[in-house]
Amino acid sequence: MFDLSGKTALVTGASRGIGSGVARRLAAAGAFVWVHYNASRDSADALAAEIRTNGGKAEVIGGNVAQPEAVEAMFATIEAQAPVDILVNNAGINIEQHLVRMSDEEIQAVLSTNLFGTIYCTRRALPNMRKARWGRLVHMSSIVANLGSPMQTIYCTSKSALFGFSKALTKEYANRGITSNVIMPGLIDTDMTRAMPEEQLKAILAGIPAGRMGTTEDIAAAVHFLVSPEASFISGAEIAVNGGAL
Ligand code: NAI
Repeated sequence: MFDLSGKTALVTGASRGIGSGVARRLAAAGAFVWVHYNASRDSADALAAEIRTNGGKAEVIGGNVAQPEAVEAMFATIEAQAPVDILVNNAGINIEQHLVRMSDEEIQAVLSTNLFGTIYCTRRALPNMRKARWGRLVHMSSIVANLGSPMQTIYCTSKSALFGFSKALTKEYANRGITSNVIMPGLIDTDMTRAMPEEQLKAILAGIPAGRMGTTEDIAAAVHFLVSPEASFISGAEIAVNGGAL
């Protein structure tokens, strides 16, 4: 069940946080995992080594997903070994700020990482998925894409745009064995949320019926299911993994 043997997975932003949990989980299920990093090569190397020690297959790949030429170079390196069957668009950033105080550069940084990075990686992965008539695309959105959140206008914009992106891909590629789904994590215990003010964290926690923050494993389990052969009839879905916080 949910065996990924023989599949090649690329998990962007996998050197830490949710991405690292996803990489571990897909490798444990038998996939060859490309642990992608932007700046933290050492952490990515350590994770790949850990996966190999545990009997899995992993290699690291670097590159800024916001730059199409970097994405091209990443895929060229990966495809020299094998095409990507499973793409998890996880890399993302958040800049907490009032819209009126955000600079052009800050707006561009959030959109170009979260939205354009997803678009560039997906565009580059699709031709080989089409050839193989098999592919799995998972895009990491957020609970706030639906709910909205103060000080996160551009972050919310980037994350809700993934809904239309994924739904349109579904219409275009579902008949070629390629699925595209969105995961909307709630509050997950990672460096990103550890950077949030204590009061804000407490307020969010109070609204989670499960009474706890999520873990990277909670998200990894949902990704694992969606990229498995068994989930071939699930596409265009937006799956909340948030302890009931909606
Ligand atoms: P994190 O900050 O711990 O990890 C983000 C990863 O993305 C890092 O490895 C970073 O190097 C990578 N990254 C950032 N910019 C990049 C770029 N330009 N090119 C390549 N890689 C880049 O964050 P976390 O919490 O693990 O988040 C992962 C994803 O889940 C993000 O897309 C985030 O928006 C989303 N998310 C997280 C939630 C949480 O509560 N932690 C809640 C909802 C969504």
